[in-house]
Amino acid sequence: MKDQPHIDPTAALVATAKRVLPGGSFGNMPAETILREGSAGRVWDEAGNEYVDFLLGSGPMFIGHAHPAVTAAVQAQIPLGTTFFGNNRHGIALAEAIVDAVPCADQVRFVCSGTEADLYAMRAVRAFRKRDKILKFEGGYHGMSDYALMSLAPKRPGNFPRPTPDSPGIPKSVQDEMVVAAFNDIEMVESLIREQKDELAGVIVEPFQRLIPPAPGFLQALRKVTAEHGIPLIFDEVVTGFRFAYGGAQEYYGVTPDICTLGKIVGGGFALGAVAGRADIMAQFDRTTASDEDFLFQVGTLSGNPVASVAGLATLEVLRQPGTYAKVFATGRELMGALSELLKKAGLKAQVIGEPPLFDLVFTDRPIRDYRDTLHGDAATLKRFNQLLRARGIMKGESKYYVSVAHTKADIDHTIDAWKDAIAELTA
Ligand SMILES: Cc1ncc(COP(=O)(O)O)c(C=O)c1O
Repeated sequence: MKDQPHIDPTAALVATAKRVLPGGSFGNMPAETILREGSAGRVWDEAGNEYVDFLLGSGPMFIGHAHPAVTAAVQAQIPLGTTFFGNNRHGIALAEAIVDAVPCADQVRFVCSGTEADLYAMRAVRAFRKRDKILKFEGGYHGMSDYALMSLAPKRPGNFPRPTPDSPGIPKSVQDEMVVAAFNDIEMVESLIREQKDELAGVIVEPFQRLIPPAPGFLQALRKVTAEHGIPLIFDEVVTGFRFAYGGAQEYYGVTPDICTLGKIVGGGFALGAVAGRADIMAQFDRTTASDEDFLFQVGTLSGNPVASVAGLATLEVLRQPGTYAKVFATGRELMGALSELLKKAGLKAQVIGEPPLFDLVFTDRPIRDYRDTLHGDAATLKRFNQLLRARGIMKGESKYYVSVAHTKADIDHTIDAWKDAIAELTA
């Protein structure tokens, strides 16, 4: 019998996607990117092309796709039931693991996404302080709620501290409830906090904003000024939690917030997010002790479901193994160093920014300290560079290389070769 020729289903899938999905997409990636399979640090698309994967599902697959420990844990749980609404032992164990790992976490409330976690964290500090306004940073991402979509990515940034909405459909009144400052500008934050301390419920920050590390002393000063005025500080650790260190960015940078949000890694690739924080703030979620007036009502159908919980627990167990973070940091450092070197050799006006587990390049030689600095980056060249890399077996999002514990020497070598080749073509 003759071998059946492989029929590439991509074109048909794209056509169907374009008919039934707006823009042919789930909203995350272009219609043409259709991934079929993942294993460790690699993915395959429907055409059968293999890629070193730096997308990592937008971050959750830190220990690699289809990790045997996670797969086994999930396979063992599925025949026993996939969701109960009531408590289950695995969710309780995962909450305990979070409390043990994360410095600010006395207690945990599970949700299903980072967006929800951020929404509830902001609500929790509003309820706690009995005030409405939240200070966030321009360019800071805290999910898709009305409050979070204020000055996430303004094309024409306005005057601080007035936010710019990122989407239609957001009530105008939300603009009045958010105060926007520049990341890494402690003078601006301090003066805004002093000015508005009686109206502020809390401050929310990505301790590592997208790709921008905090300037030395910035998080410490932010912690100090918020504490001075009794204003709860929220760290959005949806990206950095269990990634920068087992205790997240708060462990890595040595600054403990009052409350944090988690997502991505903590659910082991399943839908799980969490709000974790100080006992007195978290007590508002306690129906048995909070007064009717203070009780913060919060439920969710799939919250803490056992499948996501066992996947999260198995992931954390892998991360606790000695040497795991050293390995991922070594991989990230090698990649960042090699890319910087190649850009320099090619004489390109570009720089690599980030931390070893999460970085990218920007095509500008101006220093990057906040969102407005990133607007100096040449986005068209970055897009072209990403396209050249995709054709050379590198899968990544528009911005961000997520480094995996599972990336191997071969993955690193392949990536560096692809960079060399793509830079040669870019500069030809
Ligand atoms: C810092 C940060 N917060 C919140 C979110 C939202 O998480 P989710 O996509 O799970 O809603 C993300 C998602 O990328 C994020 O990067």
